[in-house]
Amino acid sequence: MGRKVLVTGATGYIGGSVAVKLEQAGYHVTGLTRTVAGAEKLKELGISPYLGTLDDYESLIRAANEADIIINAADSDHIFAVSTILSALEGTGKIFIHTSGSSVVGDKAAGKISSLVFHEETIEPRLEKLARVTIDRTVVSSANRGVHSVVICPTLIYGEGHGIHKDSIQVPWLIDLALEHGAALHIGKGENVWSNVHIDDLVELYLLALEKAQAGSFFFAENGEASMKSVCESINRAFALGLKTKTMSLDEAIRRWGPEAAHFAFGSNSRVSSTKARRMLDWKPKGISLLDEIENGYYKNKYKRE
Ligand SMILES: NC(=O)c1ccc[n+]([C@@H]2O[C@H](COP(=O)([O-])OP(=O)(O)OC[C@H]3O[C@@H](n4cnc5c(N)ncnc54)[C@H](OP(=O)(O)O)[C@@H]3O)[C@@H](O)[C@H]2O)c1
Repeated sequence: MGRKVLVTGATGYIGGSVAVKLEQAGYHVTGLTRTVAGAEKLKELGISPYLGTLDDYESLIRAANEADIIINAADSDHIFAVSTILSALEGTGKIFIHTSGSSVVGDKAAGKISSLVFHEETIEPRLEKLARVTIDRTVVSSANRGVHSVVICPTLIYGEGHGIHKDSIQVPWLIDLALEHGAALHIGKGENVWSNVHIDDLVELYLLALEKAQAGSFFFAENGEASMKSVCESINRAFALGLKTKTMSLDEAIRRWGPEAAHFAFGSNSRVSSTKARRMLDWKPKGISLLDEIENGYYKNKYKRE
């Protein structure tokens, strides 16, 4: 039998996509889920369900002990879960891949562009992102305590997921908003830029990291970038909503999505480079571009079907 992998977030967009690909690649995958319905659906995908939550201590330790490899893709910000998993893994040399997110380099630009492009060693988090960055740094440094730790830090992920939950966050939310208002909306001028990555390329990066990454490594995952305005123009074209995008104030966005998402998922810049993953893991992302996926690919077809 292949090596045993525990995936948290296995019913989700990232975790589900990774879990399905690992199963296909011959790993024996166990997926954490909080619900019986989730467990039933995981079984249908050939993934062994493990009922529990990230808050459980003994149960999560037991699941980590039973696995050879642990991938945390349920919640980038759950300090207790990461701490529990690290307690179970210390001194074992087991691989632990933790999923972060590139809002760690986010600013509060409210739609204005920034020229700053970050790489793995230049992250200087704002106060709001300190907790996430502290988790990431703790995972990286657990390599000194006998954990083969890796952090993967995806940017804006797009494309159809392979598991139960097929959709990411930012693009579907923008499309829903556009269809509601008759035109796509960005915060302020929408000149703020996000790096992005196709879900298929991201999954490939997890598989490569599992096989090749050194203990204590951190990788950004991007394969291009786009301004929010250009994403909105693309949504307008895809759904024949005219040429003009609309603008929303930061406070309108906060009322709709809350401050975290308004500032750090829609109004900010999050520009990073994945040179390290390409160089060290020989990662060769090849997914279609974000704008192409919106106008000619998954998003256009999905909303036609619904
Ligand atoms: N999507 C992106 O573009 C992106 C980019 C960078 C970073 N991230 C981060 O990556 C993480 C996963 O994102 P995603 O898009 O894959 O989310 P998702 O589709 O919502 O999946 C998350 C899964 O985690 C499980 N989960 C959540 N809280 C849990 C808890 N307390 N205990 C046990 N399981 C729990 C849920 O499974 P059950 O309901 O079955 O328990 C859910 O299906 C998030 O923290 C997100 O912020 C996402």
